[in-house]
Amino acid sequence: MNKINIPQHVAIILDGNGRWAKKRGQSRSFGHYIGGRNLFSVAKHAKDFGIRKLSVYAFSTENWKRPEEEVNYLMTKPIEMYHENKHKIGEIDYKVIFSGRRDRFSKELLEVIDDIEKQTKANEGFTLNICVDYGSYDEILTAINKVNKPVTKETFEQALMVKEPVDLLIRTSGEMRISNFLLWQIAYAEFYFTKVHWPAFNKKQLEKAIKSYQNRNRRFGGLK
Ligand code: IPE
Ligand code: IPE
Ligand code: MG
Repeated sequence: MNKINIPQHVAIILDGNGRWAKKRGQSRSFGHYIGGRNLFSVAKHAKDFGIRKLSVYAFSTENWKRPEEEVNYLMTKPIEMYHENKHKIGEIDYKVIFSGRRDRFSKELLEVIDDIEKQTKANEGFTLNICVDYGSYDEILTAINKVNKPVTKETFEQALMVKEPVDLLIRTSGEMRISNFLLWQIAYAEFYFTKVHWPAFNKKQLEKAIKSYQNRNRRFGGLK
């Protein structure tokens, strides 16, 4: 693949865990499990392709509306997976950060988040930004209340959870909507929608999305 013009910041709305599992006669939870593991696989490919930051939408501020059993699984399975793989966190060679609210998580989940962030903090070059209990309305309103004085575009961005503009936004599973993800940051993003469900989204799919991006003519309101 052409290594020139690689998107710096890629965002993915990782959708379709449930549908992917259903197609296989499996539970929605199984879809989330495979989807969760896929996150780290795709992050590795993104890093190898030369992307600088990958922001993934893993749980929205609206996803609390789902059945209690599903919410419970999504909030506890990562803790279990962390403990199973604790010894491997040190092997992660990129920075992992979490964006979103922190006030609705359990103490155990907060500890996992803090430890992963702490252990990968010094890594440079590529950042995996996992957006959990993230919603753009919440992010923007929080930023407004935080600054509480006249701001410029630049100073306002500094108050946001995700500060960099998105170059390429990918949504898996066929839905063509944004669902409250990075509303400010996607102002000039290129969009890429694929019918592939998130658990099946792999290196080849990512490469296809990047290639599509490389063929776009980004004009930012000007002429090129
Ligand atoms: C994406 O998959 C993961 C989350 C939103 C937590 P979904 O759970 O939305 O899967 P579908 O859309 O029901 O197939
Ligand atoms: C968006 O997916 C949220 C995440 C991917 C975390 P949803 O599956 O929740 O979105 P809607 O409800 O179909 O818009
Ligand atoms: Mg969905």
